[in-house]
Amino acid sequence: MEYRFSDKLAALKPSAIREIFKSLSDPTVISFAAGNPSPLSFPAKELAEISADIFENHAVAALQYSITEGYPPLRDALKKRLSEKFSVGRESDDLIVTSGGQQAVELLCKALCNEGDAVVCENPSFIGALNAFRSNGARTIGVPLRDDGIDTDLLEETFKNEPNAKILYLIPTFQNPAGVTSCLENRKKVYEIAKRYGVVIFEDNPYGELRFAGRDVPTYKSFDDAGIVVYCSSFSKILSAGMRVGYVCGPKELISKMVVAKQVEDVHTNIFFQMLCYRYMTERDLDGHIAEIQKLYAAKAGLMLRELDAHMPSYIRYTRPEGGLFLWCTLPDGADSAPFVKKALERKVAVVPGTAFNCDTTAPSDSFRLNYSTPSDDDIVRGIGILADLTREMFG
Ligand SMILES: Cc1ncc(COP(=O)(O)O)c(C=O)c1O
Repeated sequence: MEYRFSDKLAALKPSAIREIFKSLSDPTVISFAAGNPSPLSFPAKELAEISADIFENHAVAALQYSITEGYPPLRDALKKRLSEKFSVGRESDDLIVTSGGQQAVELLCKALCNEGDAVVCENPSFIGALNAFRSNGARTIGVPLRDDGIDTDLLEETFKNEPNAKILYLIPTFQNPAGVTSCLENRKKVYEIAKRYGVVIFEDNPYGELRFAGRDVPTYKSFDDAGIVVYCSSFSKILSAGMRVGYVCGPKELISKMVVAKQVEDVHTNIFFQMLCYRYMTERDLDGHIAEIQKLYAAKAGLMLRELDAHMPSYIRYTRPEGGLFLWCTLPDGADSAPFVKKALERKVAVVPGTAFNCDTTAPSDSFRLNYSTPSDDDIVRGIGILADLTREMFG
């Protein structure tokens, strides 16, 4: 049978990083390619205790259908936490639980974008979001990400040229893939520009609680007087990625449209895991647990940076993240990172080529992403050594 597939997914090439992920099952490959939290970061024993209690004493609630907006006690607890920690959430906002932050990105696009509308993103940006936009028929338009945030002159230019820009998708804190945090001045400028052009900002903040150096920068949502910011985060990087529990807070009118879209997609997010998140949040020490993860990642990022500083030739540039999971390396003189990544894999070190994060799928990239949360310390030392040797061989 010849299957006649829809056009919707035509723009989604089988991932450029598929080959890399295939190689990850090879135990001899050192992987800096993952986007996962550390396997050491899951509080499995405590989650097992709460799970047993849920099934013993609240089995029907955990096993029955539930409501699309999310488990009410979890929604209330999240509203409180967001307001206290990030000054997120006003009278005019609502918050719903989603199946990971990934679903929230997709729901907003579905709610706002018609075929051919533009979603403007930092370039590079998170591949999962880019594919969510593309699968809804939106065009992903990239604006270069600088050390202090998205380029504001080019952002304005882009909005001028794209009257159908509906969403500005931003990961302002510990950006994936670049590890960059935009400064407050940049955020304020970007906010004013988006407001002027009537574009909704999607503030994606899954790494916001993973700061291990420097000072917090106010969220966009905290100064959103005009009701143009939709704020999203999830439990993936602070408790468990496999549970698929995320949340999104934004203007009521937008959120209620997203609820309609969510009903069609999955009716509601897994209720057992919502209950588990709620119980862990309110009965155990979530902040203490996050502090442990911060310590772990501070050590891992510190080690990777020390190894890079010691062994990489000075013409290799890399970001110095203050939190999150990634840093971003750039090769000299605009060199294409694809052959470098291929050769690194032949030497059993996996990194993700920058092309995977490009808004324009045809554009080359001189950069690649390194993850420090999952490799062992030994692998970080050995792997960076191999990359440094390869760099010298290829670029002198
Ligand atoms: C920037 C960003 N947003 C959203 C997600 C999706 O996270 P989840 O759906 O697990 O909450 C990720 C995952 O890596 C991410 O890096």
